[in-house]
Amino acid sequence: MTSIAVLPGDGIGPEVTDAALDVLDKLDLPLEVRFGDIGWKFWQEEGDPVPERTWKLLEETDTCLLGAITSKPAREADAELSPALRGTGHTFVSPVVQLRQRLGLYANVRPVTDLAEGRFDFTVIRENTEGLYAGLDFHGLDESLWAVVGDHPNASVSGRRNTSATLRLQTRHGIDRILRFGFEHARAQGRRRLTLVDKPNVLRQSGNFLRERLESHAEEYPEIETEILNVDAVALWMVRRPERFQVLVAENMFGDILSDLGAGVMGGLGLAGSGNIGDRGSYFEPVHGSAPGMAGDSRANPTGTVLALAQLLRHVDMPVAAGDMADAVTRAVRSRRAVTYDLGGTATTEQAGAELVEQLRPF
Ligand code: NAI
Ligand code: MG
Repeated sequence: MTSIAVLPGDGIGPEVTDAALDVLDKLDLPLEVRFGDIGWKFWQEEGDPVPERTWKLLEETDTCLLGAITSKPAREADAELSPALRGTGHTFVSPVVQLRQRLGLYANVRPVTDLAEGRFDFTVIRENTEGLYAGLDFHGLDESLWAVVGDHPNASVSGRRNTSATLRLQTRHGIDRILRFGFEHARAQGRRRLTLVDKPNVLRQSGNFLRERLESHAEEYPEIETEILNVDAVALWMVRRPERFQVLVAENMFGDILSDLGAGVMGGLGLAGSGNIGDRGSYFEPVHGSAPGMAGDSRANPTGTVLALAQLLRHVDMPVAAGDMADAVTRAVRSRRAVTYDLGGTATTEQAGAELVEQLRPF
């Protein structure tokens, strides 16, 4: 039987997770749900926001639903560690970063759907491991980097110590993996176009490399048309003509920005879900964070979490249930019978969740 680890996490995480699991219960699927620990409390009390037992749970289950996580800069995190653990070598690493690294989750998949009117429906696929966020980020350059950077007119004025530089890493391994993922996703969903987002007129060498790899993969997917668009143009069109897109593939930073823009285009953080997928695992989560300011108030919109769960069901090969869940979301948004504050209503998280359960088609 397929098994899911559910990690409710921090802040509003448990509230939106509860609501989503009620919808799952109603579907009555052959799924085993196993709860696990993640989040701030475990950092404070145990010195790691992802305890070892949670890694074991993730190993034993097929995929994971994550509620939301609180993350803070290392210095603030240290100050909140339980006194008994201070000075014993614990350093805070964001749970989301830990999951992505340890499970090798190289693809971040964010569906962007017009729930209210059905005018657009596309997916942003962000490369999660390299690009401009590869971690090759330097301030005060050593001689070898200065040899590359020093001739830039601004750098020569500022000097080696007053210059920072970030490298956009692109490897054939990383590019091929995300392109193949994008094409397979497009094929599985019956999409006809894949758009590679880049800035090739400025980033000429790396852009050319991307284009070559795209062309090489495209041969294997003759039914899918490909194009390369500039990231700035994509941002404009996501707002003005979102219906033109089907599957977008973007390097880490471009994808980070466009996927949040996508949540905005959908109508807000409470509506968007996402999946992080790799060869050794996957997890699905709403796009929003733990929103500590409204934790415990039952005001959070559970829609993003329910859509993340629908994405999860598709990932574990339950497309009918996934479709039913997504349809219930659409009907609930359109009925406007139980709408949370972010969409102009007054419904609680429970009421919005109950409406989603109500909107599931009868079996
Ligand atoms: P956030 O996404 O938690 O909340 C920002 C604002 O968005 C909230 O104040 C609220 O107005 C709105 N919002 C968020 N979720 C909503 C929902 N379900 N329904 C209705 N409105 C909603 O971002 P923030 O406040 O910047 O970060 C809070 C914590 O979450 C931080 O510790 C941050 O590190 C973490 N975070 C974690 C993420 C993750 O787990 N992937 C993503 C973003 C933030
Ligand atoms: Mg982001």
